[in-house]
Amino acid sequence: MSESAAAFQIELTVNGHRRAIEVAVHHTLLDVLRDDLGLTGAKECCLVGECGACTVILDGRTVDSCLVLAVEADGSEITTVEGLADERGLGPLQQAFLDKGAVQCGFCIPGQLLSAHALLADNPHPSLPEIQEGLAGNLCRCGCYRQITDAVLATAERAER
Ligand code: FES
Repeated sequence: MSESAAAFQIELTVNGHRRAIEVAVHHTLLDVLRDDLGLTGAKECCLVGECGACTVILDGRTVDSCLVLAVEADGSEITTVEGLADERGLGPLQQAFLDKGAVQCGFCIPGQLLSAHALLADNPHPSLPEIQEGLAGNLCRCGCYRQITDAVLATAERAER
């Protein structure tokens, strides 16, 4: 990280791509992802770490990107929801969310997907209580919790075959 006036130069690896960005010291990781990098999957909602709509994976752990200063993320690897799909299309977890009807308004879904992705990376065969605990930081105002946990269970079952 290098400093010039009130701006800092940071480097992030976002969805596998190295990015060098100049950020103000008070800008959050969420600001940088959405405003500087155009990755609008992470949503801006409560901005106090309550809703999980801004969830991303930072060096293997889920974080509320509204609570992480961009300068704190310097040198980190970040996965956003845009990184879950590839040139072939949606990832298996994304497809399962669609198949199970887990998406209503869709606002919380990027955060739900990333929390579920991180959970399955740590625990490929979670029980229902483990899924509920793993997604506890992601609120869904449409109340699709049943469909969301069904989608995560279906993804884990499919991976077993
Ligand atoms: Fe970050 Fe709600 S916007 S937790």
